[in-house]
Amino acid sequence: MTRPETPAEVFDALGKDYEAAFPNQPGQHAVLDWLVSRLAGRAKVLDLGSGTGRPVAETVAAAGHDVTGCDVSANMVEIARAQVPAARFELADLRTVSYPAGSWDVVMTFFSLMQMTRAEVDAVLDRIPAWLAPGGYVVLGTVPADVSEVDFVFLGHPIRSSSYPAEVFVKRFEAAGLEIVYWEQVDYVSAHSDVRPEVQLYLVARKPE
Ligand SMILES: C[S@@+](CC[C@H](N)C(=O)[O-])C[C@H]1O[C@@H](n2cnc3c(N)ncnc32)[C@H](O)[C@@H]1O
Repeated sequence: MTRPETPAEVFDALGKDYEAAFPNQPGQHAVLDWLVSRLAGRAKVLDLGSGTGRPVAETVAAAGHDVTGCDVSANMVEIARAQVPAARFELADLRTVSYPAGSWDVVMTFFSLMQMTRAEVDAVLDRIPAWLAPGGYVVLGTVPADVSEVDFVFLGHPIRSSSYPAEVFVKRFEAAGLEIVYWEQVDYVSAHSDVRPEVQLYLVARKPE
């Protein structure tokens, strides 16, 4: 059996090919439009697993917000810095980053919690609410599924993946005292022949004022 590749190995190899394989994700654009229409002033926004910076960091920075991305792939960080000079990107593993309480107006994670164990997903989701300022938002985009450390091939790379059904993410945010303010599940079909049709979940939860 081939060893599963780490996120850094997979995304260092994929680079811009990831963006080409997952173009025009309507659910992602919809939640980003919803978010920027609600942010006032110059919000401080953290994008965990920022990839190529497009479209997430680019959209939020273009709306006038102060965006910091972090990604464990040096190649993705380099591409994002070149593509989105209006945001800042750091090389970091989102499983170990730490921020002061109340330091972000928004924390986003789009499809970056999937190449880890459920215990690691739990630990990241447990830490995010404390980082939010009062009234702040956590934005999650993922593929909901009842799977724990399953092996499959992603764009030619062997990976090990975990996720949860949508209601588990909802209950986890609610248990942390956040209110669900946006919930959408979208069928996504990429034109890329290596990408299977998938259901995408977009959730936004808000910390009380
Ligand atoms: C599927 S891509 C999504 C990129 C971007 N969020 C988007 O939606 O366009 C997942 C990204 O998360 C990053 N990632 C995965 N695990 C990570 C980790 N433990 N720490 C930081 N970044 C991670 C990958 O390197 C990759 O760039």
